[in-house]
Amino acid sequence: MSKVYTNYFFDEAAYDYHDGGYVPLEVNAAAPLKPLNVPPLLKPDKETATDVYYTVTAQAGETQLLPGAKTKTWGYNGTLLSPTIRYQVGKHVHVTLKNELPELTTFHWHGLNVSGPIVDGGCHAPVYPGETKHIDFTLDQPAAMTWLHAHPCPSTAEQVWHGLAGIVYVQDDHEASLPLPHNYGVDDIPVVLQDRLFHENNQWDYRADYDPDGVAGPTAMLNGTINPYFDVTTQRLRLRFLDGANRREWRLHLDDDHEFTQIAGDGSFLPEPVRMTKLMLTCAERAQIIIDFADKKPGDVVTLFSDDVPLLQFRIHEFAPDSAVLPDQLLQITPPTVNPDTPVRHIVMSGMDETVALDGKKFKMDRIDATQPVGQAQYWDVTNTNDMEGGMVHPFHCHGTQFLVISRNGQAPYPNEHGYKDTVGVNPGETVRLLVRFDLPGVYMYHCHIIEHEDGGMMAQIESYDPSKPRPHYNLMTMDKLMMALSAERGVPMDELWMGGMDSYKKMGMEM
Ligand code: C2O
Ligand code: CU
Ligand code: CU
Repeated sequence: MSKVYTNYFFDEAAYDYHDGGYVPLEVNAAAPLKPLNVPPLLKPDKETATDVYYTVTAQAGETQLLPGAKTKTWGYNGTLLSPTIRYQVGKHVHVTLKNELPELTTFHWHGLNVSGPIVDGGCHAPVYPGETKHIDFTLDQPAAMTWLHAHPCPSTAEQVWHGLAGIVYVQDDHEASLPLPHNYGVDDIPVVLQDRLFHENNQWDYRADYDPDGVAGPTAMLNGTINPYFDVTTQRLRLRFLDGANRREWRLHLDDDHEFTQIAGDGSFLPEPVRMTKLMLTCAERAQIIIDFADKKPGDVVTLFSDDVPLLQFRIHEFAPDSAVLPDQLLQITPPTVNPDTPVRHIVMSGMDETVALDGKKFKMDRIDATQPVGQAQYWDVTNTNDMEGGMVHPFHCHGTQFLVISRNGQAPYPNEHGYKDTVGVNPGETVRLLVRFDLPGVYMYHCHIIEHEDGGMMAQIESYDPSKPRPHYNLMTMDKLMMALSAERGVPMDELWMGGMDSYKKMGMEM
C-alpha cells in the first residue's frame, strides 16, 4: 500500500505558536464533556425536480456554551453557526437571505463557484437589518465541503467571531457512487474548528481580544461545543474539518498516531486518497478524512488533538464490520491548459500586524486591482515576503474559483493538496504557483484568510470579464458607505465607530 505521511508539511518556524501574541489552547475545566453538536440539515422551503428554495436568516441570540450564563452569539437560522446546507450540483438553487441582526451583514459562499460580487456575497452585497434579498444560482463544480460566512469589510472578523459561519456541502452523483460514509450525523460529520476566550459572565468580547495579527482564544469550540465527545457506531467515520477560526492553525492528530486517510481538500476530492497521521489546517481550509476504527473495540476512546491539547473524544461502541475499500482514484483531474503567451500573475502578501498589505496596497472596495478573461486559465505566483522572527503562514484565498496548486518554490505541492482548493497556506519566503480560472464573469475578492489580515487590508479584487462583450459596469460599494451605515445602526458617531480593521488603515495613515 501507499506511503503513510507523518508530518504537517508546513514550515514549523512559521507556526502560530511562535507568534508573540499566541494564545495557547487550554482545556476549559468549567465545561463538562458534552456530545458534539452536529448541526441539523437545513430543510428546503420548497423543492421541485429542477429547483430548490431555501431561507437563511442571520440572527442574534444566546447559546448555552458553558455552565451558568448563556453566551450572546450570532447565527444563521439559530443562535450560533448554522444548519448544514446541502446543494446538489445542477439544481437551480434559490436562497432568500434575511437579516434580523441589529446591523448589516453579507452572506458569502466561500468555495462556491457563483458570480461575484453580489451572489457571492462579499462586501459589495450588504443585507441591511430587517431586509430580505434573493439570490439564485446553479452549481457546476465537484462535490466538496464549502462554507458560508459573513463578509462585511472591515467587520468580517468580528461578525464571524460572533458566530456567523456555517457548513455547505456540494453534492454530485460521482460522490454518491463512491464507497464512502454518507450517513449525515452518523458516519459523515462536519467539524467546525474555532476558538474563543470567555470573559466575565461567559461572554465573548471581540474588542478586548483584538489583535491585528488575528484574534484567538484559549478554548476550542467544535461545532459550537466545548469539550465534545462523539459516539462512534460505525467502523469508518468520515470527518469534514473546517478551520473556521479567525487566526488559529490546527495541527490535528489522534492518540498513538492512529492513521487516517485524507480524501478531500477545500474544493474537491483528492485525486488519490492520502494516508497520514498528522494534518495541519490554516484558516478557512477544509479537509475530509476517514478514520478506520477496525482495531478498536467497544469501550475504547480515541482522542483528537491539536498539538498536545485534546479537542474531541471518540467513544467507540459496537459497530458492524465494514470491508469497503477506498478506490485508488477518487477524482480524475484534468488541469486546464495555459496558453504560453499568458503572463504569470504575481501577488505579494507582505507585512504583519497593521502593516499587512497585498501587492503593497491595502484593500479599497471600489478599486478593481486586476482583470482576467473568463474561462482562461492563468498561473498565479503568490509570494509571502514575511520574514520577521520566522514569519507566519498566510492562507491565501480567492473567491469564485477553485484552483490547482502547481508548485511550492518550484517543488511539488504537498501530497494532500492535489485536489481543487480555494485557500492555500503560503509559508514565509515561499512562492506558491496556482492555476486559476474563473468560469463566471464578475468581481472577486482575494485575500489572506487570517480574517483580521483581510479586514486590515491584505486583500484585493479581480474582475473576470468576457472579452467578446462590452465590459459591464459593476456598482461597487465604498467602505465609507458601509461605515456610515454601521455607524447609524450601532448608534455611534462615525468618529467613535470601532472596527478592528480600521486601526490597521489609520495606523498606516491611509483612508479606507
Ligand atoms: Cu472566506 Cu473572502 O472569504
Ligand atoms: Cu471566499
Ligand atoms: Cu495573513
